[in-house]
Amino acid sequence: MNRENVIQTAVAAHVAMFGQQSESIAWAPGRIEVLGNHTDYNDGTVLSAAINMGHCFCISRSTRCGIHALAVDVEQVAKFELTDTEKVEGAGWANYIKGVFYYIQEHLGKPIRGLDCTFLGSIPMGAGLSSSAALEVAAAYALLDLLSETIDKKEIASLCRKAEHNFAGTNCGLLDQFSSIFGREHGLIHSDFRSLEVSGVDLATDVEFLVVNPKVKHSLADSPYNERRERCEQAAAQLADLLPHKVTALRDVSWEEFESCKEQIAPQAAKRAAHVVGEITRVESGVDALAKGDLKAFGKMLFESHQSSIDNFENSCAELDVVVDAAREAGALGARLSGGGFGGAAIVMVHTAEAKVIGEKIRAICKTKEIEPDIIEITPSAGARVLSSFCEYGVV
Ligand code: GLA
Repeated sequence: MNRENVIQTAVAAHVAMFGQQSESIAWAPGRIEVLGNHTDYNDGTVLSAAINMGHCFCISRSTRCGIHALAVDVEQVAKFELTDTEKVEGAGWANYIKGVFYYIQEHLGKPIRGLDCTFLGSIPMGAGLSSSAALEVAAAYALLDLLSETIDKKEIASLCRKAEHNFAGTNCGLLDQFSSIFGREHGLIHSDFRSLEVSGVDLATDVEFLVVNPKVKHSLADSPYNERRERCEQAAAQLADLLPHKVTALRDVSWEEFESCKEQIAPQAAKRAAHVVGEITRVESGVDALAKGDLKAFGKMLFESHQSSIDNFENSCAELDVVVDAAREAGALGARLSGGGFGGAAIVMVHTAEAKVIGEKIRAICKTKEIEPDIIEITPSAGARVLSSFCEYGVV
């Protein structure tokens, strides 16, 4: 379904379920992580893009108590109050909405009650394209518009992350929410998760990304994501004792410093740190390569990033390795797993003119390994927004 269809379907479902029009509607995209894996919660930098798939969130006031939320795709309604931080039973998706609403309410310092909500998305679940962050951001934008309240965009990202930590159990960084909020049409964003500065990075017009999803089940809350984060923090603490300058996160350690100290820290922590410090180094070289138009060098960094995921962070899996090898064999510029890992999808960077041919070659190579991936062409897209007029989508 394209974006307009998603919006029309959600808007119509809202009326059918709740008997009244949406008062506010928002759209928030998913994202691809282009380079910089597990660097965000280490105060590092990432290159990413918002994509042309996302969530539409519709909302209206209700005279009934509590929040009623309809998930159109699974045809399920959840009901909850914002008076506690208890998880919503039997509807895992509702926790993202409850979490976001709960922290917005806390931030605004006034109670929120009586709302009807409907959402629908076009992001394949479990593909590592941040469908949950898109839902959170869309819910936040729609609610704030309904309440005529404004919260700084970076603060919105942070409230959404808090919801993810405390309602979904993943101690993620800010990458997914930043990408969904600050995405640019036809471009990448370069986010610095220490200064929280975001800048645009242009992408050559003849280059695009394929998302190749081998459809391995993926849930960050069940994955060793949180354990990896702890190892990174352990590495930073041990390196802080060895280095002469202040180290509060792996961001503070250069590749040379890491190399000179790595034998003196816990071996597992050292492997995880090798990935993160290497990735932060690659992001900075990657930005330079893109500025020079050196796509070959940039693509090579994507392959190196994936190899480091295999060797150091151990967050790849056999199916993703097949996809990345297939991409290399098919002549792609670069490829790597994108996002948390432990499943999900790989991104493949290609010249636009070769996208179809390379996609088909990847499919054929994967088939010989009994993998039948979904392959989607991605368009880097603008970030989240409130849809001020939904008449433009053909819904009155
Ligand atoms: C997930 C998390 C992000 C980030 C990536 C890995 O997408 O939600 O915060 O850590 O994994 O880079």
